[in-house]
Amino acid sequence: MTDTAPPCRALVLFGATGDLAKRMLWPSLYALHCDGLLPEPFQLIGAAKSALDHGTWVERVRESILSSANAKLFDEATFAAFSGRLAYVSVDVQSAESVAAIKSALKPADGAQDGAHQGGVIFYLSTGPQLFGPIALALNAAGLVDTRSRIVIEKPIGTDARTANEVNSAIGSAFAENQVFRIDHYLGKEAVQNLLALRFANAIFEPLWNANAIEQVQISVSESVGVDGRWPFYDSTGALRDMVQSHLLQLLCLVAMEPPASFTPSAVRNEKVKVLWSLRPITAANAATHTVRGQYTAGHSAGEPAKGYLEETGARPASDTETFVAVKAEIDNWRWAGVPFYLRTGKRMTRRSSEIAIQFKAAPYNIFAGIGATLSPNTLLIKLQPEEMITLTLMHKKPGMNEVKLAEVPLNLSVGEAFETSRRRIAYERMLLDVLRDNSALFLRRDEIEAAWQWVDGIIAGWKEAGLAPKPYSAGTWGPSAAIALAERNGHSWHE
Ligand code: BG6
Repeated sequence: MTDTAPPCRALVLFGATGDLAKRMLWPSLYALHCDGLLPEPFQLIGAAKSALDHGTWVERVRESILSSANAKLFDEATFAAFSGRLAYVSVDVQSAESVAAIKSALKPADGAQDGAHQGGVIFYLSTGPQLFGPIALALNAAGLVDTRSRIVIEKPIGTDARTANEVNSAIGSAFAENQVFRIDHYLGKEAVQNLLALRFANAIFEPLWNANAIEQVQISVSESVGVDGRWPFYDSTGALRDMVQSHLLQLLCLVAMEPPASFTPSAVRNEKVKVLWSLRPITAANAATHTVRGQYTAGHSAGEPAKGYLEETGARPASDTETFVAVKAEIDNWRWAGVPFYLRTGKRMTRRSSEIAIQFKAAPYNIFAGIGATLSPNTLLIKLQPEEMITLTLMHKKPGMNEVKLAEVPLNLSVGEAFETSRRRIAYERMLLDVLRDNSALFLRRDEIEAAWQWVDGIIAGWKEAGLAPKPYSAGTWGPSAAIALAERNGHSWHE
């Protein structure tokens, strides 16, 4: 805990039976328990609509751990101790009286009469975003919010700058800004945090970290999965709102921000928001040259036939929602003037891969040209998934006596290899621990969310005004060929 962190005594998880809770949140809380990182005492209260008795609830939590990436941490004795923290309340979040029932599940601390009035409760809203405001207001009306409470919400926060502002205002009427933790789970990924260490704990990169030495930056998050199962949600969202507004812009901020004065939440977030404010607007005038929208058609994924977006379960026969987007972003400041930041993300692409590639400028002159050697520019590659890895490619002489032959060789700084004992954690473990520690450095502030939406809203308005429809791409490919042209127009190509 930070020295000044007020102690928390319970976490109430709304949407406790939902998909995210099952796959990520309960397994992450269990891992924190195993590592002795949960406070004592600390209750974990699940809140959802279904009526479940205690035994059934404990069994459900056990199953979610056993079917998760943290299953290997499971053992009966540890789970028995963990289950001592668990409680479940059936809540209809639309009803303020029903939300007030949470009070009865909160155990009073030793010697106290009433659990509800001791504060220090974390409320995690793993629910639809339309419920964030109503739940926050109902918690407040029930007297469950005090200065030690925290609220955790997750994207999507709104669907544009206006609705994000509405959600933030509703939450803000019950919780102060320093009590609000807006999660972007990409910031909990180990490699992303390593990017901060790489930039700000090593002196060698800073002199090179600007437009003088860097040619281009690529941030690419490709997924091999489609949207089957959540078509209606996805169709009202699209790749730009779903991924770029949040994860990709956050990664861009971490690459592009100035060194913060300290690693405190306000110092880090002040620098991130400045980057968002410096993004050059994309409008109808430049949307066609700076963006590409795509939508997958039938093809193959992992060697199996894959349906097109419009043939997925629940699909409407016509939709112009993009499942792929590529953007050439430009940052108008001294450090980055003239350096393109290519952002690319999509469903049903060739493979699952998230990476940041920072390509340095080419050597000014090739003294090896006479012997037929070509030089590749150095690239710093930060891979987030499927494996976590940082490599720097350098030109190297191939061993041999007769002639000089050059090859591009990656220098590996693989997290897994350097620290063999470290277990690969679910990103939510880190995020939950930061909430417990009251450390919001890796959570988004209200102005960041709204600045990101403003830039994205401009692109969406530009697409509409310019009539830019998604271009088809076959499932299992890297997206429409226009995305290749987007980079090629500037003499660049995608790192693959
Ligand atoms: C979510 C998006 O925020 O991130 C999903 O809504 C996407 O559409 C997911 O699949 C990707 O997360 P990860 O951690 O699997 O890359």
